[in-house]
Amino acid sequence: MVETLPDGSPCRCDVCGLETVISSVRSQTPIVAESEALRTVLLRVADFALAEAPVMVFGESGTGKEIVARALHANGPRRAGPFVALNVAAVPGELLESELFGHVRGAFTGATQSREGLLEAASGGTLFLDEIAEMPLPLQAKLLRAVQEGEVRRVGDTRVFGVDVRFVCATHRDLRALVARGLFREDLYYRLKVLALRVPPLRERPDDVLPLARSFLSLEKRPAAGFTPEAEAALLAYPWPGNVRELGNAVKHGAALARGASIGVEHLPEEVTGGGEPAGPAPLSLADAEREHVLRVLERCGGSPQEAARILGIGRTTLWRKLRRYGVEA
Ligand SMILES: Nc1ncnc2c1ncn2[C@@H]1O[C@H](COP(=O)(O)OP(=O)(O)OP(=O)(O)O)[C@@H](O)[C@H]1O
Ligand SMILES: [Mg+2]
Repeated sequence: MVETLPDGSPCRCDVCGLETVISSVRSQTPIVAESEALRTVLLRVADFALAEAPVMVFGESGTGKEIVARALHANGPRRAGPFVALNVAAVPGELLESELFGHVRGAFTGATQSREGLLEAASGGTLFLDEIAEMPLPLQAKLLRAVQEGEVRRVGDTRVFGVDVRFVCATHRDLRALVARGLFREDLYYRLKVLALRVPPLRERPDDVLPLARSFLSLEKRPAAGFTPEAEAALLAYPWPGNVRELGNAVKHGAALARGASIGVEHLPEEVTGGGEPAGPAPLSLADAEREHVLRVLERCGGSPQEAARILGIGRTTLWRKLRRYGVEA
C-alpha cells in the first residue's frame, strides 16, 4: 500500500492518497495497513483530514489511535501548524486546567510567571486530547466553551481571547455509556464526535499481523533475519489483547533473543506462544484471580501504574491500595 521514495521523503499511499509516514518528535513510523478493515479507516482519515470539524477516535488500547490523530493532522490544511498532544489521564486533575488553558502570574501558589496553555500553543494546528474520558466534569464545561466558541480564558485572568484549533480526541472507553451515567457531558460528547472513527482491534484484522511484525523488525537496530514459519503461526494464532503495541513489544523481545538469527517460537514472549501457562490452572478464588489479573496488567504495561489503572478502568489511588495490599511496590 505504501509508495516508497528512494530518498526516504514522505510516502503517499496510492489507494487513499494519505501521507503514510507519521512523524513524531523522536521517530518516524511507517503506517502498515494491509487489511481491508484498516484501509477503510485510512480512507476515512484522508477525507476527515480535509474537514475542520472535531474528530473522535475510538479504539482499544494500542490499536493506533495516536497514529490516526497524527495522520489527520499531517494530511490536512493545518499540516504546517503545530500538532500538540495531551494525555488527559496523565495529568493530575488540579493541573489540567492550567495545562490546557494557561494561567496568569499569581493565579495560584507557584504561578510565578504567566504561561500559555496547550490550547494557545496548538492555535493554527491540531490539539490531540488522548483519554478524553478522564477529563473531570468541571473542566469539561470549560472545554466545551473552547470547542464551541474558540474562546479561552487563562486561569486567574479576566480576559478572553480566541484560538483557532482543530480538535481530535481519542478514548478506549465507551463514552456513550459514560454520558448515560452522568460522567461525561452529553453536549461535549456530541460536539467532539462530529466525525467519528473506530480503529479496529488487531484480532479483527489478522491480515495486518505479519506485515506489522516485519515492519517492526526492520526498524530494530539489530534486525533478525525474519520469522520461522512456526513463529509466524504463533503470531497469527495469538489474539493480541494489547493490540499493535503488544505486537511491537513481542517483536522487540524476539529480536533481542534471536541475536540476528531468525526469530523462532522460543524467542517470542511466553504469553504469545502459550508456553508459560499450565494446561489446566487450578481454580482460583475471586480475590486471587483479581490479584493475578492486576499484576499481569501491570507487568504488561511495563510496570506503569498509571497505564495499568487506565486499562483496568480503576483510579490510580484504588490501584495503589490494591498493590499495597499485595505487598507490591509501584
Ligand atoms: N498501522 C500501524 N502501523 C505501524 N505502526 C502502528 C500502527 N498502529 C499502531 N502502531 C504502533 O503501535 C503503537 C501503539 O499505537 P498508538 O500509540 O497510536 O495506539 P493508541 O491506540 O493511541 O494506544 P493507547 O490507547 O494505549 O494510547 C505505537 O508504537 C504505534 O507507532
Ligand atoms: Mg494513545
